[in-house]
Amino acid sequence: MLGDWRLSAGGGRGRGVLALFAGESGTGKTMSAEVVAADLGLDLYVVQLSSVVDKYVGETEKNLERIFTEADRTDAVLLFDEADAVFGKRSEVNDSHDRYANLESAYLLQRLEAFDGIALLTTNLRANIDDAFTRRLDTVVDFPFPDAGQRLALWRHSLAHVPCEDGIDPGPCARDFELAGGSIRSAVVTAAYAAAGRGEPVTGADLLAGARREYRKAGRLVLDEVSW
Ligand SMILES: Nc1ncnc2c1ncn2[C@@H]1O[C@H](COP(=O)(O)OP(=O)(O)OP(=O)(O)O)[C@@H](O)[C@H]1O
Ligand SMILES: [Mg+2]
Repeated sequence: MLGDWRLSAGGGRGRGVLALFAGESGTGKTMSAEVVAADLGLDLYVVQLSSVVDKYVGETEKNLERIFTEADRTDAVLLFDEADAVFGKRSEVNDSHDRYANLESAYLLQRLEAFDGIALLTTNLRANIDDAFTRRLDTVVDFPFPDAGQRLALWRHSLAHVPCEDGIDPGPCARDFELAGGSIRSAVVTAAYAAAGRGEPVTGADLLAGARREYRKAGRLVLDEVSW
């Protein structure tokens, strides 16, 4: 379509798809990238941008060039995790390091635009992404924080193959603890370890302890009065 209907952007722009997945930690961004790649039958190359960015001038570009060369060769889906590391609001130039940081994001932008494959980027902070960059994205997918009903589905999903006591109800945990999918999964793992250690099925109290532990990890207050 882009070719026949003369809709391709031209100017060195590739025919790839550039998408940003934005949402809080544990809302399923990385998992969704895995699903996209698996659905297309392609490998997923995960690039940790924070580890590509090098303090030495010119090294970041070399690292990126290696990644793109490899991706072009193998036809993989590219996932740039923590895009903020490079696409955080391009700072005003205060010192020579800022100037080079801006050069790096300009370089990555140009390279991404020319890329013919699928490139996915993730961020926890949508507002932190530079406007010039957002304009070049084909798609921005928001990963909202799950509401109570969705959290209940996530609890049930995580518990699907875990031996639980009869009549166990993750409903109160889903209602009272505002946890994203990743934390719900961790809470269930904590509960499962506790139960496995006793040699018994998981109880409601195990789930509660797991949920509390996730709250404490996130530095959130655990209220004792919640309706238990
Ligand atoms: N919507 C969902 N459906 C099913 N499972 C989910 C969902 N969201 C999160 N999970 C579970 O949470 C785990 C963590 O999610 P994932 O690593 O994709 O989060 P993320 O958005 O990439 O977080 P981060 O920003 O910290 O990298 C997944 O492996 C999966 O088990
Ligand atoms: Mg992730």
